[in-house]
Amino acid sequence: MGQFRTNSGPAEDLLIELDRDAGVPLHRQIEASIRGSIRAGRLRVGASLPPTRTLAAGLGVSRGVVVEAYQQLVAEGYLASRSGGYTQVAASTAPASAGPAARAQPAARRVDFGYGRTDVSQFPRAAWLRSVRTVLTTTPNDRFGYLDGRGVPELHRALCDYLNRVRGTSAVPDNVVICNGYGQGISLLIQVLVRRGARRIALEDPSSNDDARVLAGAAGLEVVGIPVGPDGVEVDALDRADADAVVLTPSHQWPTGAVLSAAARAEVIRWAKRRGAIVIEDDYDAEYRYDRSPVGAMQGLAPDHVVYCGTASKTLAPGLRLGWLIVPSRLVADVAAAKVLADRGSPVIDQLTFADFLARGEFDRHLRRMRPVYRRRRNALLDALRTHLPELKPAGVAAGQHVVAWLPPDLDETAVVAAAARHGLGIHAVGPYRIAGTGPGGLIFGYAILGEAAIAEGITLLAAAIREVQGRP
Ligand SMILES: Cc1ncc(COP(=O)(O)O)c(C=O)c1O
Repeated sequence: MGQFRTNSGPAEDLLIELDRDAGVPLHRQIEASIRGSIRAGRLRVGASLPPTRTLAAGLGVSRGVVVEAYQQLVAEGYLASRSGGYTQVAASTAPASAGPAARAQPAARRVDFGYGRTDVSQFPRAAWLRSVRTVLTTTPNDRFGYLDGRGVPELHRALCDYLNRVRGTSAVPDNVVICNGYGQGISLLIQVLVRRGARRIALEDPSSNDDARVLAGAAGLEVVGIPVGPDGVEVDALDRADADAVVLTPSHQWPTGAVLSAAARAEVIRWAKRRGAIVIEDDYDAEYRYDRSPVGAMQGLAPDHVVYCGTASKTLAPGLRLGWLIVPSRLVADVAAAKVLADRGSPVIDQLTFADFLARGEFDRHLRRMRPVYRRRRNALLDALRTHLPELKPAGVAAGQHVVAWLPPDLDETAVVAAAARHGLGIHAVGPYRIAGTGPGGLIFGYAILGEAAIAEGITLLAAAIREVQGRP
């Protein structure tokens, strides 16, 4: 008996057993084993097979035996030889019922206004590659070891230069902690708050329902929703909330798009100073401003009371998982310790690459290129809404990658979303993001990855869906 076990896909092993006494040629046994694995779905489409030399050595057979088996399976269409000299399971052989990928998919949408996507097709690959190359050719080996929890000093410096210049922060490199996006940043901050005795956290109502709210609940913090009005969060309600911290999106409230007024910012900061509370500023889409001057970050007004959270998810790609916190000095060590505990630090090559990318001015260049792209999409959305659905009231349109449109009182948002789905349109209502559960109906239009024609088509579909809900032909 010979055996070869290889990691052929997520969590799966490919096991080939040879019986030298069976009287069946060895190449036929290998063929049968691989064919069986493909048919059973153990080897999925696209899975790479081990090189013939490696498999032959593992099985204790000559390489020619494995080559013959692979060639037969290529001829049968089970395998495909790739130009890099490797062999993969071919697409055409996917068994109809093989695993989750083959399970029923939801009906394809014609247009999807789902929020949270950035146009990653515009990722500045060439410029990023230049920075990766620089990092890999110039960084001494000893920099690739474990880090402290804050990340690499080059990125701390580059971010401070950028944020102080563009966002009006008052950041110093010693107070920056690199994390894996806002998602991890808020998780670390909540852990630190709890460890320091916090009991209640205030969140904007409505606000995102898949990060701070869930994390705070899981950590045992009581969550208090603070209503958001046209000028952002209502500070009187915050004052009554008896909270130890508040999470805000002051530059472009998510999802309503409201901007926290200058007066309200000052009041929030007075509140934080009075209570010894922490303001967590989620500055998620600040880089995209279309027809209004930029609104500076709150952190710049009170660096000892505000934690600034930034992310590359809206500007470069969510998959980079790059985020940064500017933390008041008294919390830096605790946040860095939580980061070490979470994952021993963010990937060093990515951090150095981003630092180089920032220092070369590539980030600014990329944003200059992207702003008109998103502005055109936003304009297409507003034009189409004005033409086909003038009864909807768009808000928060001057910035970001999404728009909220408020519905007239007689139009139920849940019914509109359901009707839209029947017309092949994906869209979310504001309701699921509310904490207290009340307020006007609204729809959230994420437009970042849609071309102008798709946006116009989406609004036509929505208009048809709304007519259906209203019982009009
Ligand atoms: C309100 C808000 N903050 C932050 C983020 C970014 O999260 P992350 O940096 O974890 O990708 C998002 C992403 O959609 C968001 O909606």
